[in-house]
Amino acid sequence: MAEKKAFNRLALDLVPENYYLELQPDLDAFTFNGKEVITVVVKNETSIVTLNSVDIKISSVIFKAGGNDIIPSAITPRVDDETVTFEFPSNLPPGPAEIHLQYVGELNDKMKGFYRSKYQVDGEDRVCAVTQFEATDARRAFICWDEPAVKATFDIKLIVPKSKVALSNMNVIEDKALSTDANLREVTFARTPIMSTYLLAFIVGDFDYVENTTSDGVLVRVYTPVNKKEQGDFALQVAVKTLPFYNNYFGIAYPLPKMDLIAIPDFAAGAMENWGLVTYRETALLIDPKNSSSSAKQWVALVVGHEIAHQWFGNLVTMEWWTHLWLNEGFASWIEYLCVDHCFPEYDIWTQFVTTDYTRALNLDALKNSHPIEVPVGHPDEIDEIFDLISYSKGASIIRMLHDYIGDDDFKTGLNQYLTKFKYSNAFTEDLWESLEKASSKPVGRIMNAWTKEMGFPVLKVTSKQEGSSRVLTVSQSKFNAIQPQSGEEKFWEVPISVITSDNPSKVAHKFVLSTASDSVTLDVPEGKWVKLNPGAVGFYRAHYSSEMLDALIPSIKDCSLPPRDRLNLESDLFALAKAGAASTVDALRVMEAFESETNYTVWCDIASNLGALATLIAFTDYSTLLQTFVTKLFLKTYERLGWEKKEGEGHLDALLRSLVIRIMGRNGHPHAVEEARKRFKDHASNVNILPADLRAPVYNTVLVHGNEEDFNAMLELFNKQDLHEERERIMRSLGAVKDPQLIKKVLDFAMSDKVRSQDTVFVIVGVTGSKTGREMAWQFLQDRWPELIERYTGGFLISRLVKCTTEGFVTEEKAQEIETFFKEHPAPAAARTVRQSLENIRLHVSWLSREGGAIKEWLKSKVY
Ligand code: BES
Ligand code: ZN
Repeated sequence: MAEKKAFNRLALDLVPENYYLELQPDLDAFTFNGKEVITVVVKNETSIVTLNSVDIKISSVIFKAGGNDIIPSAITPRVDDETVTFEFPSNLPPGPAEIHLQYVGELNDKMKGFYRSKYQVDGEDRVCAVTQFEATDARRAFICWDEPAVKATFDIKLIVPKSKVALSNMNVIEDKALSTDANLREVTFARTPIMSTYLLAFIVGDFDYVENTTSDGVLVRVYTPVNKKEQGDFALQVAVKTLPFYNNYFGIAYPLPKMDLIAIPDFAAGAMENWGLVTYRETALLIDPKNSSSSAKQWVALVVGHEIAHQWFGNLVTMEWWTHLWLNEGFASWIEYLCVDHCFPEYDIWTQFVTTDYTRALNLDALKNSHPIEVPVGHPDEIDEIFDLISYSKGASIIRMLHDYIGDDDFKTGLNQYLTKFKYSNAFTEDLWESLEKASSKPVGRIMNAWTKEMGFPVLKVTSKQEGSSRVLTVSQSKFNAIQPQSGEEKFWEVPISVITSDNPSKVAHKFVLSTASDSVTLDVPEGKWVKLNPGAVGFYRAHYSSEMLDALIPSIKDCSLPPRDRLNLESDLFALAKAGAASTVDALRVMEAFESETNYTVWCDIASNLGALATLIAFTDYSTLLQTFVTKLFLKTYERLGWEKKEGEGHLDALLRSLVIRIMGRNGHPHAVEEARKRFKDHASNVNILPADLRAPVYNTVLVHGNEEDFNAMLELFNKQDLHEERERIMRSLGAVKDPQLIKKVLDFAMSDKVRSQDTVFVIVGVTGSKTGREMAWQFLQDRWPELIERYTGGFLISRLVKCTTEGFVTEEKAQEIETFFKEHPAPAAARTVRQSLENIRLHVSWLSREGGAIKEWLKSKVY
């Protein structure tokens, strides 16, 4: 494995107070000129000053203090460190000073720093210039102390072609023609509050907008592609509700006069919380009333809720260093749900949290190659790699557990104290605990420590004994490991535990904190009643019930007397235990059969995802078709109940469920679903009857899984006609469903062609990995095109997502070794941990298959004849 790169934070002999930046992008030559004045205070005498800088050509550096100009005797860029060092002929005098700089930078096409993005207006190619600085790319746009704790104010001036829109974090204070060139304007923005460099933003391009004002007087605008402004309406509504929601929840007013949300055609992440100028992928912001699906709307609401939360949690109060990144991302990933639940209660979004964040975090965190939420990071490669499920989803899950433990009122009070105490400054994880501890008078720090500082989580073994009318529960904890044998590691968490019983499944019957290896509690529960831990799946642990306890719970799944999140939780725990070898997979499948009459969308999502994992595991066997039959039988009742047409009075969740069920039935070859999909696709493609947006993804998928070259070409034709990113993405994600190797090859080449933006290449390739042939071909493709891919994504999180999806699905030791060897020869520092996680997952599959394959096969045979 690659060695950890040496890393030091910058010296703070000089500290910046203000940056004046004057930038003039050249949208034809793809460069920009920069003039910069940093107002600093020299704290300690020194003749050496090191700042961050990448791909910047510096033409002039003057240090000005007390009427003297001092020119550096040497300017030394260090490419590996992403710094530049100025060496002055003598010590700089302590006190106030200015550093004046002039330089030329590159408007690159890598979606980082100050970069260019391409789009069309009325069929004509255009280029806009935009920024993405988090985590460490402000240094590509200007020379700075590019660290979150080195905060300053910023005065921005942009020199732009006269017809372009120019935006930055703050409102415009002056906009006038340039005296030397009437084709240019200089646009000056108000001074920003004290903030971190990674939150700065500026944009020059052609955009339209819609606007509104919040109940508390903030001007909100959603910037869209030209002539598409109605696609901004939905996000605008969400933002206008969301800002006052947070003002109220945090008890602190949003401090800027305006809030812009803008869709950027080329964008690496989903969205970025730049203070007052939040940037989004088009699919995370734009909703086309006719062509957007219910899931697209829900996604936009979550992303807007997430980024606006950062305006407080992240922007006003910032993590002291990237080790505490989770404070930003974990928190925003939790509160985005609170906000969406407030705006759209009909989404039942907290139940969805359980599969989309909680369960996925548990799955990753069970690996030996997981990492603690708080992890020492230095070099930018290491920083990029922790924008992962642990920081986001585990972070959000433990905040949710804590919120439940201390209650909403104390939680809000503590947050307000924390934000007030650290505003315009930085904080460590402990600072948050301290405020919440004060507000709640509960031992927050003690309880939360292990959850953020240790990786992994516990599995609680639960047994019960009846003693008269009392039930004695014994609960013992050990670390949950994805691969058997369980390590027996002596690691204990402080686990807040709640218990429900069949008396009233929606009311907590008992609460306690398990702090030791094992504990017993006595409950007032008569014989014949069931008992379950972890109501709502709020605790970040897995529960392993004795078989009597589990058997007693099954009828409550069948009659739905157990609430949805608890049904999901039981199924999910059992499946995870089976995968880890602590329960039998056949037993888990038997429990799934109890869900035949299930009506909850999210519960079905979780079942579908587990069955998908099983399908991947046995894709190479002769019994994989038996599993397909099992799956279609399990989903049949729901498929028949929902049908293909939206019914009177149906809501958001019915639409999501219909789309899920049709996709599952279609993919697994249910004849009616396949035929219906083909018929509807034909009418859709020939414009006879356009498919409703919610049905498109499952129909495209079904048609391609069972399709030929003609279907594939029809799909490409649809793609070429479309300019709505959401629709293009739907098609891109579906293309790889084809099974014919010739077509798969076409999909992979298409992924790298100029028809697909770099931001989307990963989706196309992931699409291919759903079949066994596709998986092999995608991995081969990654190896063949490695130099090009590395160059395209130069580090960053897209490369680690690509590596993850092309490697983790394999099920043989030979493949594990092949992958290991490849990455030894071609190290990818930004994906180093990802590679180890994939290898671990593959070996987990090997052990699962050899342990259980035979039994699964026999059971499926007995079911499916
Ligand atoms: N701060 C991140 C954006 C980001 C991600 C910057 C990775 C640098 C590297 C932003 O707040 C974020 O988390 N965006 C998410 C969407 C969100 C709804 C989970 C994303 O981009 O996926
Ligand atoms: Zn975020």
